Amino acid sequence: MSSRYIRIFDTTLRDGEQTPGVSLTPEDKLVVARQLDRLGVDVIEAGFPITSKGETEAVKLIVKEGLNAEVCGLARALKQDIDAVINCGLNSVHLFIATSDIHLKYKLKMSRDDALAKALEALDYAKDHGLTVEFSAEDATRTDVEFLKKFYKTLCDAGADRINVPDTVGVMTPRRMYELISELKTVVSKPISVHCHDDFGMAVANSLAAVEAGAEQVHVTVNGLGERAGNAALEEVVVSLKLLYGFEVGVNPKLIYGTSRLVSRMTGIPIQPNKAVVGDNAFAHESGIHTHGVTRHPLTYEPIPPEFVGRRRRILAGKHAGTHGLKVLLEELGLRLTESQVKEILARVKELGDKGKQVTEEDLTAIARAVAGEVVKEERVLKLDELAVMTGNKIIPTASVKVVIDGKEYVASKTGVGPVDAAIKALEEVLNPVIKVYLREYRLEAITGGSDALAEVIIKVEDEEGNIVSARAAREDIVMASVEAMVNSINKLLLRRRKTG
Ligand code: KIV
Ligand code: ZN
Repeated sequence: MSSRYIRIFDTTLRDGEQTPGVSLTPEDKLVVARQLDRLGVDVIEAGFPITSKGETEAVKLIVKEGLNAEVCGLARALKQDIDAVINCGLNSVHLFIATSDIHLKYKLKMSRDDALAKALEALDYAKDHGLTVEFSAEDATRTDVEFLKKFYKTLCDAGADRINVPDTVGVMTPRRMYELISELKTVVSKPISVHCHDDFGMAVANSLAAVEAGAEQVHVTVNGLGERAGNAALEEVVVSLKLLYGFEVGVNPKLIYGTSRLVSRMTGIPIQPNKAVVGDNAFAHESGIHTHGVTRHPLTYEPIPPEFVGRRRRILAGKHAGTHGLKVLLEELGLRLTESQVKEILARVKELGDKGKQVTEEDLTAIARAVAGEVVKEERVLKLDELAVMTGNKIIPTASVKVVIDGKEYVASKTGVGPVDAAIKALEEVLNPVIKVYLREYRLEAITGGSDALAEVIIKVEDEEGNIVSARAAREDIVMASVEAMVNSINKLLLRRRKTG
């Protein structure tokens, strides 16, 4: 164990925004930057100012915020790029030029010496303008090592503040990364940073190997966003540095999950359920053996305490379930039953699971009611009092809702792209003072045929504490089915919060 401090350089707003299909408005970028600052990253790469007017505007907005983190902008080793950075009011620049023979020959059509001369010229220009300079040799890991050493040493001697080693196309292995950084350490006098891409799925492992070899800083993106297969994921790097190595990191791990959700929502890039740390299943247990284990002692099957990263354990009902887990889940849903009733419910859950059916909290409540009859009283915290929806070809779909929570009335109206969207947004809005909820998944299925078909809506809703519940509702009216499913799920969330304090 060591108490070395490892700096976190976040490039979600630059490399992360280069994820195919992602484009953020300046206001979106500002929201993410504020969250990254709250999270505690050391550097925020706010963007690549030369790219567009919108990008310049976004970086200017972020600079004006006066964040605690160092805010920097990316620039090629060109005066106009550096001017664009200066024009945004930044005082830190991430400069780069390619150094591998492949890039020099086919992209830059330049010799190694020319690239070094250009790099030095750009460094001088940036330093003359008072900028902090981190210098990257693009495609460093496919660059001739002797030339790479000469390149970084020359730049450090000429005043670069940090050097960054990009594994631009993600071709390193942990052992090779360890060796490269060790080699560079022999000539480089300034802090070393790494920037790993995930083409072979080794971005995090390579970043950690670089830190083992002495790198002082790691480039990361939230949810591992970035060019092609993405960059090293912030959440995985930070949790590993803290829990596996015992290093110090400025990031507050409790804010990791909220940040991940925010970035997913803003970029529209979903997170795979089995993604480490931030995936839906990262702290979910279904099998009887596991749920029994974690309810006896979390360490049995939870190497990372869910609360450490701002999450909660989820126990699910399915064909692998066991009595222990099911009992915990039923209690969380406000349902207290006898041993024999739990056994009967378990048998029915397994039956459904065998038929390939996902068992939601809603299903579980229905099964419990069927098994225990009147004994089970479902508590309801939220009551829908009124819902009015307007739609048509000449008006923007608008919904108004009135709900009652603990005897207090709340009213809100919202517009949407359609009546369902408007109704769900109005519900999210009306609940804001009590609980912040987000619709994570929405599935609509017609159970019967015809225009009066019974529609089944299956949804997944999440609150800001990371509690996720699913619910379903079936009605002839799609809007009502959607709202009912939403109300049911919010009731479960409110109830769960009360039970767990
Ligand atoms: O992957 C890369 O090489 C980059 C550079 C701009 C540092 O993102
Ligand atoms: Zn990159």
